[in-house]
Amino acid sequence: MRFSNIENGNFKNKKVFLRLDLDVPVKKDKIEDEERLLSGIKTIQYLIKHGAEIIIAGHLGRPEGKEEKFSLRTVASFFAKKIGYGQLHPRKFGIFNGWRLTERISILENLRYYKGEEKNDGEFSKKLAGLADVYVNEAFAVSHRPHASIIGVPAILPHFPGFHFLEEVRVLGGILKKPKRPLVVIIGGAKLDTKLPLVEKMHHFADYVLIGGKIAQETRILLKVAHEKIIPQAGRKKSVLLIADSTFNGTDISEKSAENFCQIVGLAKTVVWNGPMGITNGKSIDEDTERGTRKLAKAIVKSRSYSVVGGGDTLAYVKKINLLDKFKFCSMGGGAMLSFLSGEKMPGIDILEKNYSK
Ligand code: 3PG
Repeated sequence: MRFSNIENGNFKNKKVFLRLDLDVPVKKDKIEDEERLLSGIKTIQYLIKHGAEIIIAGHLGRPEGKEEKFSLRTVASFFAKKIGYGQLHPRKFGIFNGWRLTERISILENLRYYKGEEKNDGEFSKKLAGLADVYVNEAFAVSHRPHASIIGVPAILPHFPGFHFLEEVRVLGGILKKPKRPLVVIIGGAKLDTKLPLVEKMHHFADYVLIGGKIAQETRILLKVAHEKIIPQAGRKKSVLLIADSTFNGTDISEKSAENFCQIVGLAKTVVWNGPMGITNGKSIDEDTERGTRKLAKAIVKSRSYSVVGGGDTLAYVKKINLLDKFKFCSMGGGAMLSFLSGEKMPGIDILEKNYSK
C-alpha cells in the first residue's frame, strides 16, 4: 500500500481537516475509555509543530438526527483539557457547529448529525472540504465506511494518513499477508450487521473462529448453516467454527465454552480478538457477567501468540482489568479491523492510495 507521507507534507499556515475516531463510550458526561482519542494525539502534535491550523472532525454513535446524547461536547472537553486552553468556546464553521480549543485547534460537532455524512453526499463533502486545505485520516476504525468524511473529503483535498493509521495498516497488513498459524479469530459483542458477513469471510483466512457474546446468541443457526456451505479455497482448509453457549440468563458465555476457547487460544500463534463475550460494563471487575471475557483475556495474554485486540468496548474492558499493555497490538478498529483482515475493500484506505487530483 502506498500513501503520501505526512512527514513530506507542507502544513505551514495550512488548514487541516483531521478525521479522528471519536466514537468512544460516554456515560453521564464521562468518557469511559480514552484510548481512541489518545491514538490521535501524536498526529495533532505533529501538525501543530509544523504550523497547521487543525479542524478535528468525527462521529459519536449512530444518532438519528441531532440527538443530544450523541453530542461530541464531552469529547471536545477532553481535548480542551488535554491539548487546549481547558475551556470550550463555541464556534461556527459555515453550516457546522463546533468549538474552539486553542487559536489553532477546533473541533466540529458530530458529523452524523448531518444526513450527508453517511450518504457521502457530494455537496456535503464539498462543504466539509471547503473548511480546509489538506485532509488527514487518523480514523482507521471508521475506514470501512464509505462516508463523506472518510472518502468524500479526501477525494477533493490532498490527503495523508496519520501516524496511528499507518501503524494499523502496517501491523494488520503483516498478519493478513503472512499470519503465524494457528491463527485464532475471536468475535463477540454486538453490531451484528457489520460482523455477521465478516465471520463468513474469516473462515477462508483463520484456522479457528470462536464466536461469543450477542452475536453467538442471536445468530447461532445462521452462523452454523453459513459455515456448512463454505467451500474452501484451493490449497487451504476452511476454519473450525466454535460458537459459545451462554449462561442460563444469557449475560455471559458458559464456563465450559470459556474453557474450550481458552484451550484453543493456548495452541495459537496469532490471536485476533474483537468483542466481549458477555456484558462488560459493570463497575467491579468481579461481576458475574464478565467472567468469560476476563478468563479469555487472561488466556490470550498468557499464550505465546502474537495477540491483537481491537474495538472500542473490548479495549475499554482489557484496560479496566489492566491487561491492555500485555497485548502485542491494540487496534482502534472493531469492525474495521475485522473487515481489513477478512480482505474486504476498505474505502478509507483505497482513497488515501489515490493521488490528489482536481
Ligand atoms: C466503531 O466504533 O467501530 C467505528 O466508530 C465505526 O462505527 P459504526 O459501526 O457505527 O460505523
